[in-house]
Amino acid sequence: MRYLIDKLSRENNLSQEELELLLGNLSCEDRDYLIEKAYEVRKKHYGDTVFFRGLIEISNICKCDCFYCGIRASNKKANRYRLSQDEILECCHRGYSLGYRTFVFQGGEDSYFSDEILESIIKTLKSEYSDIAITLSLGERGEESFERLYRAGADRYLLRHETVNEELYTKLHPKMSLENRKKCLESLKSIGYQVGSGFLIGLPGLKLVDYAKDLVFLKNLRPHMVGIGPFIPHEDTPLKDEKGGTAYDTITLLAIIRLLLPDVLLPATTALGTIDPKGREKGFKAGANVIMPNLSPMECRKKYALYNGKVFLGKESAEEKLKIENGILEAGFQPILTRGDNIRWKRK
Ligand code: 5AD
Repeated sequence: MRYLIDKLSRENNLSQEELELLLGNLSCEDRDYLIEKAYEVRKKHYGDTVFFRGLIEISNICKCDCFYCGIRASNKKANRYRLSQDEILECCHRGYSLGYRTFVFQGGEDSYFSDEILESIIKTLKSEYSDIAITLSLGERGEESFERLYRAGADRYLLRHETVNEELYTKLHPKMSLENRKKCLESLKSIGYQVGSGFLIGLPGLKLVDYAKDLVFLKNLRPHMVGIGPFIPHEDTPLKDEKGGTAYDTITLLAIIRLLLPDVLLPATTALGTIDPKGREKGFKAGANVIMPNLSPMECRKKYALYNGKVFLGKESAEEKLKIENGILEAGFQPILTRGDNIRWKRK
């Protein structure tokens, strides 16, 4: 395994077969070694910095019906909300005064958010502030829509591919296709966005070979950002009785991703912080370099329940910036509030 880890660190690449072998045979000591290597690479490219993003959950109304997701269209128990344009702008104003310089608009696939409405929000913010980045995480849209939003000033787009196991993808995402997901990712890249993709860990039925394929997919896509996290069952979904992913596996995969994509922006996600109170810090040590505290209006945070037990107070909350910064400093890292672009990106 040392041989494979050294090869991965040296070449920033392994074959699918090698990745599968590595995932299946890591002893605890090997894993520590892998994490050390990932830490070195992260340090070389981004030092000890951890970038902050203010996450605004703009709507939990969604036309999709993903089996794992708490805000799926069929969940009649979900308490739905949608932020108005003014509410979104207010969140950003509040975030800006707190020091945040990246705002991530995340939401379900809610047709209310037309190109016109989003353009207006993006243009308003970009004319008010010259030093901010805007990230969108609003699911699949047409190429023309992606193009318009980029021209309006959006800088980044997050769209996880969720899993490259086509059979499982089709089962878990009614009326959606992996092919269209991949097409969206390619469009986003060619338009010029900083693109983020990623997958879920511990979805029922996934095998090591699937993660190896997810990793090869990411390597080939060369995204600027990668978001991975454990699947956590939600009580009002068809997967409510399934097991869920572990923090251990998530952290191992974070380290491998750091080595495969040395300059990637890699968040220690909320889902990781939810299943392990120390998950975030462990993530930073394994190569993660982004944190996305919640900046949504307080009364909405509970409603944006993708999975059970989602944390949104204390260290998850954008208002608790000092607490979050202290936690990061204590773990040995430097909190940074600039917009924090991927070092390989320039706006087209
Ligand atoms: N557990 C963990 N992550 C989830 N997501 C959706 N539902 C769950 C869940 N039950 C993730 C998806 C999506 C992101 C916004 O949230 O990967 O892309």
